[in-house]
Parts: sequence; C-alpha cells; structure tokens
Amino acid sequence: MANVAVLGYGVVGSGVVEVLKENSVSISRKAGEEIRVKKILDIRDFPDSPDRDLITHNPDDVFEDDSINIVVETIGGVGIAHEYTRRAFLKGKHVVTSNKELVATHGPELMKLAKECGVNYLFEASVGGGIPIIRPLNQCLAANEIVGITGILNGTTNYILTQMKREGKNFDEALKSAQQNGYAEANPAADIEGHDACRKIAILSSIAYNEFVDSKNIYTEGISNITLADMEYAEAMNSVIKLLAISKKVGDKIFARVSPAIISKNHPVANVEDVFNAIIVKGNAIGDAMFYGKGAGKLPTASAVVADVIDIVRHIDSNGRTVWKRKDYNNIIDINESTTRFFIRVSANNSEEAENYIKQVFGDVEFIKAARDSYKDEVAFVTAKAKEGELVSKKESLKASASINDIISVIRVEEE
Ligand code: HSE
Repeated sequence: MANVAVLGYGVVGSGVVEVLKENSVSISRKAGEEIRVKKILDIRDFPDSPDRDLITHNPDDVFEDDSINIVVETIGGVGIAHEYTRRAFLKGKHVVTSNKELVATHGPELMKLAKECGVNYLFEASVGGGIPIIRPLNQCLAANEIVGITGILNGTTNYILTQMKREGKNFDEALKSAQQNGYAEANPAADIEGHDACRKIAILSSIAYNEFVDSKNIYTEGISNITLADMEYAEAMNSVIKLLAISKKVGDKIFARVSPAIISKNHPVANVEDVFNAIIVKGNAIGDAMFYGKGAGKLPTASAVVADVIDIVRHIDSNGRTVWKRKDYNNIIDINESTTRFFIRVSANNSEEAENYIKQVFGDVEFIKAARDSYKDEVAFVTAKAKEGELVSKKESLKASASINDIISVIRVEEE
C-alpha cells in the first residue's frame, strides 16, 4: 500500500483527494497496489468536509510518519511549500506538485536535492492543468531537438478574452466568473499580468532545451490593457487576440516572450477558447505536435497530479529524472534584439496627415479600418517586421506629431 499526504486542501488539493477516492479501484489496479490518502495538512479546519478526519495542522504528522511515502504539495507559492518540499525529500518522500511558481523558481535546486535523496519530484500538473505535456516533452519527444514552443498556457486569461470577444462582457465580470470556477490564482494578478504563463513557458522551455530557463528573464506582458475595441480591429484583420507564450531555440540562446498577440483565425490556436489551453511543440523529427485540453480547474489539474502519484507507485524504487542546469550567463535573448510586427492604434486630429506621418516614421505599413464609425478619429496600422528596441523611439516620434493626439494600443502580430 502507498500512503499519500496532501499538503493544502484548496481547489487542487481537495480535487486530488476526490479523484483518488472516486477512482480508487481503477487507480489501484493501474498502480499495482492500493493508494490511499493518509493525512491532509492544512492550517484551516474543514468541519463539513467528508475528509475532515484526515486533516491535521501538525506537519510532523506527515514528515515524521515513515509510512507516508508520497507527498502531494498543492499549497502553492514559494514560501512554506518550498520548506515542506525540501523536508519531504530529506525524509525520503517523493513529491508531486502543481506548484509552477516553485518549480519555475527553485526547480534546479529541488531536482538536485530529490536526486541526492533518491526520490522523485514530479510536476505534470504545473503546466496545462489536465493536459499531458511535461511527460510527453520529457519522454515521448525526447528523440527530437525541440526548436520551439507556442502556447496558450493560462486558462483564466483565455477565459476572459473569450468572454469579452463572444459575449461583449467586461473584464471584471469575466474575471469574477473565472475565480468562481476555480481557474484563477489566489492572486489573479499572476494570471492577468502574464506571470503564470511566464512560469509555465519557463518550465516547458527548461525541459525542451535541457537547461534552466529563468522566468525572471522572460519578457512578460498581460492582458489588462486589451479592450473590446482592440478585438474589433483584430476582427477586421480576420484575426483574434490571445495571450501567447512563445519560446524558440536560437543558436546557443533562447528567445522567450509572453504577451497578447493578434493571430490569424487560421492559426492552430485561434479557436482555443474558454479555459482550454493549447501547446504546439515543434521538433526536428516530429514536426509540429499540438496538445489541447482543460488548462485549469479542480479535477483536470487533480487528474495530472494523481497520474504522477501513480507513476511514482509504479516505479517506486527508481529515480534519476533530469536535473536542470543553471547557465552561468543569461541564456535568454534581450527582447529588444528580437523582431516582430506591431499593430498600433493612435487617435488623430487629422487622419490623412497622421497616415502620411506614420509612413514617414515606420515606412511600409498596412492601415486597418475598423468596422464602426466610432473609430473615425483613429488611425490603426500594422508595421513591417522590425526590432523591438526601435519601437520606443518610433513611439516618441509619433507622439511628437501635431496630427497625432495619443497612442491608444500597441499589440504584437504573430504569424506562425
Ligand atoms: N491560474 C491558472 C490558469 C491555473 O488560469 O491557467 C492553472 O495553472
């Protein structure tokens, strides 16, 4: 019998207990032995929960109990979750987690410690919720040189963008609904400002390129400035707006970025809506492989956690998963050195003069006409591909023009 302790009885933790109980017969058959939850560690009481008898507030009940061999960490964050993960390893316990912040921040050290302690640290649920992506990248696609990854990696923001586009809902209503469904982070700023997607692309890139990709060095921009008007312009371009996480191997460096992007409706992730995530992995042998499914929520995420628990029980005596090496230099390409196309909207007091001025500053541009008359005092255009670093001075030039009042939006246009 394998005994599991669950740390943190929140949305995901309670989902893990539910899945382990609900599917216990088939899970035990697949694992080769019975798996039961022996303890749940949380600072809160849950008097109405069917699992109330398993709740403890005392960490020793988990770490000093030698019969508990697997710890599921669903606390989140890099505080106590970090301390408990280390303590579990040092006590010879395997750890399974959905905590992307911890993996993205302390992954190399924790993997090293797990290896030294002869245990495993598995985190399938940290990226893509219920979508199998960590194991496919680590194992099934291991024969490939991974060239690039493009993904919608945050369910909350994809849900918000979908609600805005489909229902014309405002941002706050859509966010509230995502929180009620258990999709959002405890602090939803991590979703909205792109940090959650950033941690996830950092984890996927670390596996794909076999070196630690530090999320701190990845350019990250969220969706809080995206408006319904931007979406109407995207529609006029036969496109949609998505929060895209991208990484590519470029020589011995890595390009990585999280930002809203205008993508054609023909792009493979354009129709990925609501809480769904999609990840396209480009390998030199497989070509493009796409992974799609529910990227957030209680049971989808619990499904991935429990799969890791089963994997550990099946291979209880083996460890030796990879350890990400930290480079002694910044392996991420400076965003200013990368090239992209931009969609830019300005308010203008004289459209014709503004268009002429824009052509002087940006050269060859494509002007976009929105469908509605209410945008008649605006000029919108898409630039040719140019270095990101040049944008700052070009924006200053736009502001200096007498025909242009203000810059309203700047959104990247992504082609692949
Ligand atoms: N807040 C995350 C999301 C949860 O919305 O994708 C899953 O990691």
